[in-house]
Amino acid sequence: MKQIALLGFGTVGLGVYEIINQHRGLYFAGKETPAAIKWILVRDKNKRRAVNPTDCVLTDDFEDIINDDSVDIIISAMGGMEPEYTYIKKSLERGKHVVTANKEVICAHIAELTDLANKNNVKLYYEGAVGGGIPIISSIVETLKINKITKIQGILNGTTNFILTKMTKEMRDFDEVLKVAQDLGFAEADPTADIEGYDVMRKICILASLAFHTHAKTEDVHLRGISNITLDDVKMADTMGYDFKYIGQALLKDDKYSISVTPVLLPKDSVMCNVNQEYNVILLYGDIIGELCFMGKGAGKDATANAVVSDTIKALNEEDSGNHINFAETANSYGLSGIKNEYYIRASVKNYDQFEKVIDLASGAIKKNNLTYTNSKVFFTTELIRSSDMLSLYEQLRECADDVFYARMEHSLL
Ligand code: NAP
Ligand code: HSE
Repeated sequence: MKQIALLGFGTVGLGVYEIINQHRGLYFAGKETPAAIKWILVRDKNKRRAVNPTDCVLTDDFEDIINDDSVDIIISAMGGMEPEYTYIKKSLERGKHVVTANKEVICAHIAELTDLANKNNVKLYYEGAVGGGIPIISSIVETLKINKITKIQGILNGTTNFILTKMTKEMRDFDEVLKVAQDLGFAEADPTADIEGYDVMRKICILASLAFHTHAKTEDVHLRGISNITLDDVKMADTMGYDFKYIGQALLKDDKYSISVTPVLLPKDSVMCNVNQEYNVILLYGDIIGELCFMGKGAGKDATANAVVSDTIKALNEEDSGNHINFAETANSYGLSGIKNEYYIRASVKNYDQFEKVIDLASGAIKKNNLTYTNSKVFFTTELIRSSDMLSLYEQLRECADDVFYARMEHSLL
């Protein structure tokens, strides 16, 4: 029987333990179980836990694990960069397969860790790092065998989709629903990563790195959070026939990439707009297959543990991990240049002077008959304009209004 060490016994770790050692689901249910968790690494051995395992050893010392030659597979589900990055490296160097759900580590070190796994003749898997239970990494690896992928778009964060859904459907406040998402185990230990978009940024960079054969860097991402969407924005979008979604997008053009993570207004009858709660959805465009759409639970114990254990089964069988993908092609980012969109804009004003300045600035970009003034707020939508022009309009509006929010408008997404 193969031996597994589990790093982390929080939301994801517990789900993995339940499937493997407690035989939830089919694969590990038989008498001849092919593997079991021998060690679990935690920060605090004395913490009160919902489950106290008696069939494996709880430790707070990684040395116990790395020095145990009987351990074949390391599953890492701790969170943050360090010490997990170092533990993953050491595990690969010691010839152990690694399965991880840590997108921060994979996003920053995908090329280096893939090389390290290949040098040590072991596998590195990270399906649980993107899209929760959706098998998107393995699908990209498969799609790439035949296709050139040129576009990826998706709702990639369960917490923020849950928040936007509750705001839209129940008209509840941002902070109130964030707390519910935290209680349900969707949010990161520090939820700033969810609401300011770092989590989506890391996930879309991992997907772009795989799909575009280059190490996509977070510093190239145009990133905007969702924390300043208000209920007024949600209501105004509703009257226009749209809802807000938080979208990660990666495009490839002439071997250069453009990656953004921004709030987007989607028509209510589009597929993506109807992906709600903690569900994620990802669209891929391959030159042969055309459009592919993947949907499933993007966060939470069981969905993520399903992805992690599925990788573990692959590790047991030493199946394809995508380790052959070469990230060495050095594609550069083309940023937002050449990209045009229509935009929704809200500017909150205190007096007539501010109102007049906002209207003056808006007049160059505004779509006909698309301006509303209510409750000291100016709402308008623009014609198709360059993203760079939108950025400079935003900066100018911020100088004369109290609070400004904008989002690009999409007319489809299936
Ligand atoms: P979590 O509930 O906060 O659990 C983290 C676990 O790691 C805890 O058991 C903690 O020990 C342990 N840990 C943290 N730092 C440690 C350290 N320095 N040394 C030893 N143990 C340490 O986190 P989670 O939600 O399960 O997430 C784990 C990972 O999966 C993260 O990378 C996250 O981004 C990723 N992920 C999470 C989800 C989700 O829905 N939650 C989905 C996909 C991916 P104690 O128990 O002693 O505190
Ligand atoms: N905090 C993340 C989310 C967990 O809400 O999507 C899954 O990666």
